[in-house]
Amino acid sequence: MEPILTLESARLLMRQWRDEDLPAFATMCADPQVMRYFPAPLSRLDSAALIGRIRGHFAEHGFGLWALERKDTGEFIGLTGLMHVGFDAPFVPAVEIGWRLAREHWGLGFASEAAWTALRCAFDRLALDQVVAFTSHSNLPSQKVMQAIGMHPDPLGDFDHPRLEPGHPLRPHVLYRISREQWLQTLHG
Ligand SMILES: CC(C)(COP(=O)(O)OP(=O)(O)OC[C@H]1O[C@@H](n2cnc3c(N)ncnc32)[C@H](O)[C@@H]1OP(=O)(O)O)[C@@H](O)C(=O)NCCC(=O)NCCS
Repeated sequence: MEPILTLESARLLMRQWRDEDLPAFATMCADPQVMRYFPAPLSRLDSAALIGRIRGHFAEHGFGLWALERKDTGEFIGLTGLMHVGFDAPFVPAVEIGWRLAREHWGLGFASEAAWTALRCAFDRLALDQVVAFTSHSNLPSQKVMQAIGMHPDPLGDFDHPRLEPGHPLRPHVLYRISREQWLQTLHG
């Protein structure tokens, strides 16, 4: 299948990563508020390495975490996309949907708009049967995005993230899912 390099929504271009995205991406990933539900903010080097891994996922699978660009201002504002879950858990193998936006672009519906566009790509173009999402119990803003795009909590699937040590407050994770049928129902009512 042809790699899916770009997607578009009403207000966003979801595109491949440019080297020039690094300063804004590193600033976002160094912001303690943005990284509140992750183990720690990232250094510039960590952010650069993460862009490298994202590019690697696109090269291997033809989809990934797209860089988000606002059409009105041309600004890079974060990422949203799809990736294969990279750790072992009962619901793996699975493709997850995820998002991270710079704080000044929160509260404008951009994360949900990009997530909706990525989900449509998952079912329409990649023909996946199911997409999952997960986050720490306390990350309610992220769970709101999951709910906004029609995902359902799967309490029996809740799990401890294997990359966080036992006792870490962010270790307990909620699992959300959406099947192709559920997505079609959301679309057509
Ligand atoms: C999770 C995250 C992306 C959510 O961002 P967000 O801007 O709150 O999410 P949305 O794009 O869905 O925006 C929804 C908000 O925009 C408002 N909004 C304004 N205009 C809107 C529009 N045109 N369409 C939809 N919502 C709109 C909504 O009312 C809602 O506000 P509320 O939260 O006060 O109810 C953001 O908090 C973030 O980047 N967090 C840090 C990274 C992170 O935790 N990622 C997830 C890891 S699993």
